[in-house]
Amino acid sequence: MTTKPALRLAMPRPELEESFRRAAAEFPYDEETLSYERDLATRDFDQYVRSTQAWANGRDLPRGWIAVSTFWLAEGDEYIGTVNVRHKLNDWLLRYGGHIGYGIRPSKRRMGYGTEICRLGLEEARKLGLKRVLITCDADNVGSKKIIESNGGVFEDEVPQPDRPVGKRRYWFDL
Ligand SMILES: CC(C)(COP(=O)(O)OP(=O)(O)OC[C@H]1O[C@@H](n2cnc3c(N)ncnc32)[C@H](O)[C@@H]1OP(=O)(O)O)[C@@H](O)C(=O)NCCC(=O)NCCS
Repeated sequence: MTTKPALRLAMPRPELEESFRRAAAEFPYDEETLSYERDLATRDFDQYVRSTQAWANGRDLPRGWIAVSTFWLAEGDEYIGTVNVRHKLNDWLLRYGGHIGYGIRPSKRRMGYGTEICRLGLEEARKLGLKRVLITCDADNVGSKKIIESNGGVFEDEVPQPDRPVGKRRYWFDL
């Protein structure tokens, strides 16, 4: 009998580099999500790992960024997806971006990992001391809308976006 490797969330780590690179190659170039992760990590993986640690501690942040904790969902040694937990909101995050963003590698979608990474991201937000968390999604992102709603997000409103023809749906979670 084979046992399924454990599914867990952890900060980006060098043992998962190869698996992350394979996952990064699955993303089409026109899919914006996680492109910043992919660009940084494929250019200089060690620096990327150091940067995510610094950003989580509020250090060396690119201009305009809020401190952010980055976690990878992995099953054993296989990279599955990324969740970013921002420690607070600025004006743009309050209207469009929210506290938490996530992405699942294309070959692992529609298997429940998105729902799980959101749940685990909310747990991390709670550990960071956040009491109220905002998660947003494009109105046409059916998967993300279902993930947010099944994790208990309370719909506030849908706001127009300056750069997209669809609205952004905003949901709150009391932790
Ligand atoms: C959105 C995303 C995270 C979904 O991840 P996932 O692992 O496929 O999600 P799950 O398997 O947990 O699916 C959750 C639900 O959404 C449904 N779903 C997922 N993708 C869907 C799609 N493209 N179209 C319709 N339904 C979809 C699933 O069937 C499931 O429905 P159920 O609860 O009725 O069974 C993934 O497609 C992704 O990474 N997309 C790019 C990044 C992104 O959009 N991130 C979210 C930003 S707000």
